[in-house]
Amino acid sequence: MVIKKIFRAASVTAALLLGLTAAARAGFYNLPPLPPPEQYGNVLMDRTSTGYGMKAVVFSHWVHRIKYTCRVCHLELDFGFQAGSSEISEKASRDGRFCGACHNGKTAFGHTKENCDKCHSGDVSYGADRFKKLLPSLPRAGFGNRINWDEALAAGLIKPKDSLRDDYQQMSFEKNLELAAEGWSSIPPALFSHKAHSQWLDCANCHPDIFNVKKKTTKHFSMARMERKEFCGVCHLTVAFPLDDCKRCHQR
Ligand code: HEC
Ligand code: HEC
Ligand code: HEC
Ligand code: HEC
Ligand code: HEC
Ligand code: HEC
Repeated sequence: MVIKKIFRAASVTAALLLGLTAAARAGFYNLPPLPPPEQYGNVLMDRTSTGYGMKAVVFSHWVHRIKYTCRVCHLELDFGFQAGSSEISEKASRDGRFCGACHNGKTAFGHTKENCDKCHSGDVSYGADRFKKLLPSLPRAGFGNRINWDEALAAGLIKPKDSLRDDYQQMSFEKNLELAAEGWSSIPPALFSHKAHSQWLDCANCHPDIFNVKKKTTKHFSMARMERKEFCGVCHLTVAFPLDDCKRCHQR
């Protein structure tokens, strides 16, 4: 009886929740405050820099995702899905790893004296003017960079490379999943499209570290865990559109 009551109360809350203002919803969950759109996805990297008397490095996702998909960096180049998790050093970059796979003076500016400050800027608002020029040319979204990256890709407005190798072939897997939370009958299930995600990511970016390869077997899959950067929250808090955008996942 008591459990039934809690579930009924939960359903009412869920229905009301999707109708609330963004601020109220963010308050209901513990969602982190959102930076301005031009800083969304900018990562301040300071595992070593300031310790060596250099300013911290600022890496901007929107600058790079226009040209490369996530898998290029997060699979081929071994960057981790968490700020500070990759052991990047100047030596490794100069040997052609991490940033240096591209920042080699050919694909992009190299690790030479005149360029130190471009990366070691210490300023997360770096690139704001460029962002203002970019924004009007791309489809809009309500949150994050306020850019609908999927529509931009579908319309051919951006053409990010899938690989740094010539022989790469993308694996196709198009299964759509409806992820319904148990006990929350009034909240529309979250929709997950393998096709949409495979445009950006490799299977190995999600399986098996983030999700089991069998529907509804990933344990403790809840909003509370996602807001702590687990499951969908690995990406949908800091780089892909944020959890604040309830209806993009809980459609209908
Ligand atoms: C050009 C390379 C590059 C591309 C492309 C790229 N990333 Fe990253 N990403 C990085 C680097 C570098 C970091 C910081 C890693 C570190 O500090 O160890 C990072 C960090 C992250 C983080 C952690 C952010 C935080 O604040 O903790 C997430 C999540 C992430 N990336 C997701 C993505 C997604 C999703 C895409 C595709 C839309 C993507 N990345 C595309 C290089 C890239
Ligand atoms: C393409 C971007 C980029 C450029 C250009 C660049 N760096 Fe770095 N550098 C990094 C990154 C990323 C790190 C690791 C950041 C962190 O987490 O603190 C780093 C780390 C460092 C460190 C910390 C110790 C070490 O050896 O890793 C020093 C010192 C350093 N850079 C000096 C320089 C100098 C001097 C220049 C110019 C000659 C330069 N960097 C140019 C990206 C760059
Ligand atoms: C997969 C290739 C690739 C990797 C890896 C990469 N970059 Fe870049 N980066 C580029 C290219 C290409 C540009 C030029 C983009 C443009 O001008 O549109 C660029 C531009 C930049 C810029 C200039 C942005 C601006 O506003 O003009 C900075 C700063 C930068 N990268 C930092 C980094 C740092 C730091 C890393 C490593 C943590 C890194 N990049 C890793 C390809 C890469
Ligand atoms: C962005 C993350 C992500 C990527 C990338 C991804 N998957 Fe999944 N996959 C999921 C999620 C989430 C589930 C459901 C897990 C659950 O419910 O416990 C899933 C489930 C599956 C299932 C089980 C489906 C079922 O009905 O039981 C298979 C098979 C699968 N994925 C294969 C793949 C393959 C092959 C690729 C690469 C082409 C891939 N996945 C890429 C997130 C991803
Ligand atoms: C490894 C990173 C990653 C994970 C984990 C992830 N996503 Fe995404 N997702 C993305 C990226 C990148 C996009 C492209 C849009 C953007 O960047 O804003 C995207 C787009 C979407 C879209 C819009 C495209 C569409 O299908 O219409 C939905 C909805 C979505 N994700 C739901 C989910 C759900 C639900 C989960 C958890 C089951 C999840 N995602 C986990 C990276 C991720
Ligand atoms: C990136 C996709 C995504 C976004 C955005 C998202 N959710 Fe969810 N949500 C999910 C997934 C996946 C589940 C778990 C489904 C399952 O258990 O299989 C879930 C579960 C839930 C539940 C069930 C109980 C719980 O806490 O887990 C509620 C209620 C809910 N979401 C409300 C919201 C609200 C309100 C927002 C906006 C603030 C939101 N969601 C944004 C993907 C998302």
